[in-house]
Amino acid sequence: MIDVRDANKRFVAPGLRRRDEGPVVAVDHVSFSVGAGEILAVVGESGAGKSTVGRMLLGLERPDSGEVWVDGHELGDASERALRRIRRRMSLVLQDPYQSLHPGWRVRTAVAEPLAIAGVSQLERSERAASALEEVGLAPAADFVDRFPHELSGGQRQRVAFARALAGRPRVVVADEPTSMLDASLRRGILDLITAMRERLETTFVVITHDLAAARYVADRVVVMLNGQIVESGEIGQVLDHPANEYTKMLLAASEGRLPEEASCG
Ligand SMILES: Nc1ncnc2c1ncn2[C@@H]1O[C@H](COP(=O)(O)OP(=O)(O)OP(=O)(O)O)[C@@H](O)[C@H]1O
Ligand SMILES: [Mg+2]
Repeated sequence: MIDVRDANKRFVAPGLRRRDEGPVVAVDHVSFSVGAGEILAVVGESGAGKSTVGRMLLGLERPDSGEVWVDGHELGDASERALRRIRRRMSLVLQDPYQSLHPGWRVRTAVAEPLAIAGVSQLERSERAASALEEVGLAPAADFVDRFPHELSGGQRQRVAFARALAGRPRVVVADEPTSMLDASLRRGILDLITAMRERLETTFVVITHDLAAARYVADRVVVMLNGQIVESGEIGQVLDHPANEYTKMLLAASEGRLPEEASCG
């Protein structure tokens, strides 16, 4: 479903950065693939390039070189028009539901809007919006459709963001830190939602997270990123129980709340 081949992306940082520092290498010779219906976690600390990889999968960033294949289409060289068409089969869920949900839109509008863009009739839109809300655990949908985002709890807001993302039956969903703004008690519900949607719809998920426990709970496989590179990848239990890379060991030690014995990473 997803096949990234030797992708590279540099950014010329704006503003204060001194000229001799050169561009930021956000994605450095990255290759990985994700099968249909698989859940891949992308982990690594801040600035590792995770979100840039996620945005590349939606064609929101283009690689400087390399190829990004999603659902049989190469996005790196696709025209804007082709990208718009391909993106109808894909969704992005962000950390902050307010980034995905317009504060002035009622839930019904937020969930149905991608369907309107896809040309679905109004009657079918409201039916599909209601069933998407019930699928994400907001039932009965009638209790939620007239609310504004600020009239929901944080967990409910993120569920609405997922309903919006899933209503159009995407083949691929990229979720960028979908649980990091939620209380621990609500995280599991969102992760359960991801696995349920995978079971029911065979949706392919790329879940970007700092949280190794969340990655272990939800994912089949993981890629570990550091400074734009994938330093380790594999089946989630294998990588987290028997990390081969020093950086992965350090992330694990940090996530267990203890300092690594030797803080050498790389
Ligand atoms: N549009 C941009 N312009 C300039 N630099 C950028 C841009 N987007 C990302 N970068 C830089 O690329 C690097 C990777 O950023 P990215 O957002 O992909 O990291 P990340 O792993 O998602 O981090 P975080 O966990 O903090 O979200 C960082 O050094 C970042 O500052
Ligand atoms: Mg990020």
